[in-house]
Amino acid sequence: MKGKILVTGGTGFIGSHTTVELQNAGYEVVIIDNLSNSNIDVLDGIERITGIRPAFVEGDCTDIATLRRLFDEHPGIKGIINFAASKAVNESVQKPILYYRNNLNILLNLLDLMPEYGVKGFVFSSSCTVYGEPDVNPITEDAPIKKATSPYGATKQISEDIIADVIKSGSPIKAVLLRYFNPIGAHPSAEIGELPNGVPQNLVPYLTQAAIGVRKELSIFGDDYNTPDGSCIRDFIYVVDLAKAHVRALDRMLQDESDNALEVFNIGTGDGLSVLQLLDAFERSTGVKVPHKIVGRREGDIEKIWADPKKANDVLGWHAEADIDDVMRSAWKWQQRLRERGIM
Ligand code: UFG
Repeated sequence: MKGKILVTGGTGFIGSHTTVELQNAGYEVVIIDNLSNSNIDVLDGIERITGIRPAFVEGDCTDIATLRRLFDEHPGIKGIINFAASKAVNESVQKPILYYRNNLNILLNLLDLMPEYGVKGFVFSSSCTVYGEPDVNPITEDAPIKKATSPYGATKQISEDIIADVIKSGSPIKAVLLRYFNPIGAHPSAEIGELPNGVPQNLVPYLTQAAIGVRKELSIFGDDYNTPDGSCIRDFIYVVDLAKAHVRALDRMLQDESDNALEVFNIGTGDGLSVLQLLDAFERSTGVKVPHKIVGRREGDIEKIWADPKKANDVLGWHAEADIDDVMRSAWKWQQRLRERGIM
């Protein structure tokens, strides 16, 4: 065993895939999740894939007493990966207090307790949203941080600053900030995947739900952007590749491969794909047609952004490997599995 890792939000989309990769790599995982946006059955999926059921605490990381109990009951935790957060951009505009309270209190509680319980490494789920609309693509980690366009984005920026300040103050911890681009797809086994509450806000779950008939049609938000086909461009990163980046970041921190107490990495493929190109990739790779229509722009959308992942490639030795057609097929297989299970 490589060591015990606390995964907050571990039954969520990225958290569950990361738990699988951590266990595959020999880490022992303890999950805490309040199940506000995920389901306890995810643990069965993780167990079916890896043969190991992670320890699970149902609880809320905004409650420091719950966290203390967890650390007392699971001594020897070496690292934390913090996925627990509210993450719907639109909702954050409607409920800013909820977003600031949740996302910042969770972070503060964890950072506060780490030295006391001897936890050395912290991986934070950040987002390319911290860059706003880039001046140049692909974007590197030293690009300027622009004013956030939503409270959700602001919590990511503030969280990055809090972590930097805590490390500057001499706290005996190390941290890695991973700026994710757009995570998509599902585990190839279709045992785990993305299961948004209610109407999906993100592109791929909406697309697969339209393909299977849960939604009437996919709306493409705008075809008049300054891009080759007029739709927005993103860097769609396979969730399994993204999960593996966390394992590399932890390995590096816990094995003291670097003297830097704080590091930041873009986690993307390095390729921009437009919304229409992604739709085309789905239809091509699955043979399934997706009913869709072009509608007006969605407020707050960035026109185009994709990563320069060279730093993660060179320093972490991590590369996005998945082929987009395989990724699209994984998303479709997952949607079909939800149908088989009568969930969707
Ligand atoms: N889109 C559509 N139709 C839809 C949904 C999305 O055309 O039904 C378009 C959007 O306009 C955008 C692209 O697909 O151009 C991607 O949109 P997403 O909502 O999937 O993702 P965003 O790029 O908006 O990113 C947001 C946050 C990120 C966060 C990410 C995943 O800004 O911080 O969602 O939660 F990581």
